[in-house]
Amino acid sequence: MAKTYRWGIIGTGNIATQFATCLKVCDNAVLRAVGSRSQASADAFGDKFDIPTRHATYEGLIDDPEVDVVYVSTPHSLHKENSIACLQAGKPVLSEKPFTLNVSESKEVIAVAKDTGLFLMEGMWTRFFPAIKQVESWIASGAIGEPRMVRCDFGFYMEYGERNRLWDPALGGGSLLDVGIYPINLASIAFKDAPETIQGAAHISEQGIDEQAAFVLGYSGGRLATLSSAVRAQSDWNAYIYGETGMIKIHECFWRPHAATLIPREGEPTTFDEPLESIGFEHEIREVMRCLDAGLTECPTMPHSRTLEVMGTMDALRNQWGLKYPGE
Ligand SMILES: NC(=O)c1ccc[n+]([C@@H]2O[C@H](COP(=O)([O-])OP(=O)(O)OC[C@H]3O[C@@H](n4cnc5c(N)ncnc54)[C@H](OP(=O)(O)O)[C@@H]3O)[C@@H](O)[C@H]2O)c1
Repeated sequence: MAKTYRWGIIGTGNIATQFATCLKVCDNAVLRAVGSRSQASADAFGDKFDIPTRHATYEGLIDDPEVDVVYVSTPHSLHKENSIACLQAGKPVLSEKPFTLNVSESKEVIAVAKDTGLFLMEGMWTRFFPAIKQVESWIASGAIGEPRMVRCDFGFYMEYGERNRLWDPALGGGSLLDVGIYPINLASIAFKDAPETIQGAAHISEQGIDEQAAFVLGYSGGRLATLSSAVRAQSDWNAYIYGETGMIKIHECFWRPHAATLIPREGEPTTFDEPLESIGFEHEIREVMRCLDAGLTECPTMPHSRTLEVMGTMDALRNQWGLKYPGE
């Protein structure tokens, strides 16, 4: 019989709430403890999800012997510190995206995972959806010939000051790390490759974050991805992969899709559509537990190399824009 994993969550914000909702539909997963900067938040979150242990500090959660695996859901700027603390305390980690603020921080965290021999994964949940698996299978079967281009935008509108972490450079604010990471991952899914050339332009806001950005990634053989991110512009949330003999449309929301359509140049379209069981984190949660059951330290679907590839692309873009976070 499969082992039951006792999960702990660090942070009680928006995405922790969605993740906890999804944990509830996963067999062999229990939400054992939560850690917050305040007892009031830990208790409110604990009450909502019926969590037995509520810690008023992150350290309390990290050192909790009743926790088998930790989900890190704090702002980007804390991912490195929180993930390393968990690993050093002997806990496997699923850390939210972006894995860290930059590639150098990512390497530090991965080095600790290697030293401790513990499982570590970036929670790039998009890669685990059945619709994305179907897209990968269409591509692998040659259904659109060679994928030649990807078009994908992730923009939404947010008032200045709303959702504070997005506007605060100290918390890794801006559109690229928050949502631009999804189009970059989608191109990586389609091309199964790292870009050879990276070119972008961004509007840096008064607060010193990238409010909107457009970028073109070039891959070997002339393959191209035209991508964008924004926190004050609503974009199309479908994504497209164009191939020699057809195209694939991933229906909105492409980063948590339930549907995709294969549109061959000749012949009838085929749509894959599978309603989500919950919000969508259930797929990555089950994959983490499958990896732990198998004794893996990396997830084959989201290995450290992919994290480093995407973080490196984002570093290169920020370098072009002169966008640095405090301490970089
Ligand atoms: N996979 C996805 O679809 C997805 C979607 C949204 C966000 N994310 C990622 O998840 C992470 C958290 O995003 P979120 O939208 O959940 O953020 P959020 O609503 O602001 O929550 C972040 C939580 O982190 C803790 N925290 C610690 N230091 C903080 C600080 N200085 N300022 C604010 N919060 C602080 C707080 O929990 P306590 O008060 O309990 O300590 C807070 O509730 C980000 O890295 C983001 O990229 C992923």
